[in-house]
Amino acid sequence: MTDITKMCRKGINNLGVYAPGKPIEEVKRELGLEHIIKLASNENPFGCSPKAIEKIKEEAENVFLYPDGNGYYLKQTISEHYNIKVSQIILGNGSEEIVHMIARGFINQDDETIMAVPSFPRYETVTRIMGGIPTQVPLKDFKYDLPAIASKITGKTKIIFVCNPNNPTATILRKDELDEFLSQLPQDIILVFDEAYSEYVDDPQYKSGLTYLKEGYENIIVLKTFSKIYGLAGLRIGYGISSPQIIDILNKVREPFNTNRIAQKAAIEVLKDQEFVNKVRKENSKGRMYLEKAFDKMGLEYVKSYTNFIFVNIKKDSKTIFEKCLQRGIVVRPGYIFGYPQYLRITIGTEEQNEKLVEILKQLL
Ligand SMILES: Cc1ncc(COP(=O)(O)O)c(C=O)c1O
Repeated sequence: MTDITKMCRKGINNLGVYAPGKPIEEVKRELGLEHIIKLASNENPFGCSPKAIEKIKEEAENVFLYPDGNGYYLKQTISEHYNIKVSQIILGNGSEEIVHMIARGFINQDDETIMAVPSFPRYETVTRIMGGIPTQVPLKDFKYDLPAIASKITGKTKIIFVCNPNNPTATILRKDELDEFLSQLPQDIILVFDEAYSEYVDDPQYKSGLTYLKEGYENIIVLKTFSKIYGLAGLRIGYGISSPQIIDILNKVREPFNTNRIAQKAAIEVLKDQEFVNKVRKENSKGRMYLEKAFDKMGLEYVKSYTNFIFVNIKKDSKTIFEKCLQRGIVVRPGYIFGYPQYLRITIGTEEQNEKLVEILKQLL
């Protein structure tokens, strides 16, 4: 029999398959449970704007037609929202697809990329898929260590990924740290700011990559998503903002109909409904404070969170506690997969979900 594994591109055999947070359907099926609370993938427990649901229903009857691959109206809405040019925007099937486009567009064999670890794992994977070499720099105090990253830059460095806020630790970089880093960064290195959770941040020290773009840096790509605060994770839609030159390149490697009709329509509505977003942000802050207080009372240390998830030290084996939570109908993310065997990454849920989580953790710990 032919060994097919020998036929694939170099490096692919060594890659793992991405293991996402367990889907609710799978947990129900495997454990025979009726009610599952999923706090594992940083989705929005409050759903999305009701205005988007209306549009989704309306658009359903047009699904026999291909979408506008260029996403004209959604790009228009995004451009007005941020006061940027349409030529600065690319749409993706989730922001994750844009991470892949960046790799396809820019990484040659043996080019180097730099990212922190633990951070969003796709930066490393897409680099390897393209035959590039990822340099992973450990976090310092749960944050991206920018001086250490700067020290790893070589003549072969093509891209630096900065996840801000960082997943899984929920930390942010301050603007003075970023200013310093950018002032030394060679202009022929692409700096990707993954800002999937930026809408949750309300700290004046936070500076979006968008501000740097507006200040004139042309080598910056900012990634945003509709999967988190906007509540459209199931529709798969995100976007990137950069200089028109970079967007042109990304468009060359983009699948022609990568974002679907329903997602485009829904995204326009959620972006316009900032009242809903503000409500979610408020509820999330309340939930975060509730969990912080509960963890304090339980004597558990956690990393100060700027997002809709918390990285908490449970002082016990995370795999065991993850499995016990699962049997009780709560899905969280065990820290061992990120190299922190005693931590859990917990998405902040609704009031009721948070209370249930605390009750179960109290029993288990
Ligand atoms: C930091 C970060 N970037 C990107 C993504 C991917 O988001 P999307 O659903 O837009 O592909 C996630 C999803 O969890 C994330 O945590």
